[in-house]
Amino acid sequence: MSKKITIAIDGYSSTGKSTVAKQLAKKLGYIYVDTGAMYRAVTLYAMRKIMVTDNKVDEEAILRHLAFISVKFIYDEDLGYGIIHLNNENVEKEIRLMEVSNNVSKVAAIPEVRKMLVKQQHEIGKDGGVVMDGRDIGTVVFPDAELKLFMTASAEKRAERRYAELKEKGEDVNYEDVLKNVEERDHLDSTRETSPLVKADDAIIIDNSNLSKEEQFDKILSLVKEKTEA
Ligand code: DC
Repeated sequence: MSKKITIAIDGYSSTGKSTVAKQLAKKLGYIYVDTGAMYRAVTLYAMRKIMVTDNKVDEEAILRHLAFISVKFIYDEDLGYGIIHLNNENVEKEIRLMEVSNNVSKVAAIPEVRKMLVKQQHEIGKDGGVVMDGRDIGTVVFPDAELKLFMTASAEKRAERRYAELKEKGEDVNYEDVLKNVEERDHLDSTRETSPLVKADDAIIIDNSNLSKEEQFDKILSLVKEKTEA
């Protein structure tokens, strides 16, 4: 049997990281961890308690509440991966709303929030056989991951994809706002002080602006094979 490795998938928002990560985890029988969902769940908690509004984050209030925030993945047999729960409530749908997307970068920039979630990510992935997607997986969470991918695509292409997804869910959005959100998040995620989004030196860039999902998956699967069968 081939060895179970750690696969770190980082990159910009809406580059299809989670789609690839889920596909890979299913194919390989690995655990899939969507770390963005963890940051989104903490953001949702803060929004519900009015610690976050469109322009401001009450960092101190969030820190006082950290001990009361439980973020967990509960395995769903049918889907084959864990669904995000905030204090035992399934929040998978709610964390994807545009309002959460607009605030998450600010919450994800708080060092204590990151510390709490990274600790949990280490615990989940400590035995390998995991596909984890996020922004700092190959640089901070698992710097020794055997395979690191860095996914990217043009902002316009990503906004188009995100817009189509939100429309399909019935959200009332316009393309310009989605593009603005994508660009703002890129900026905040890449320039924050703690664990900014940067490519690890040994990560392989996957630019999928012009790749079909199938082409991309085949390419990545062959990279996995190189590592597991080496
Ligand atoms: O992958 P996503 O778009 O669901 O992530 C939501 C936000 O969380 C994104 O703006 C960046 C942040 N994030 C992070 O800072 N570190 C991670 N490992 C994952 C996500």
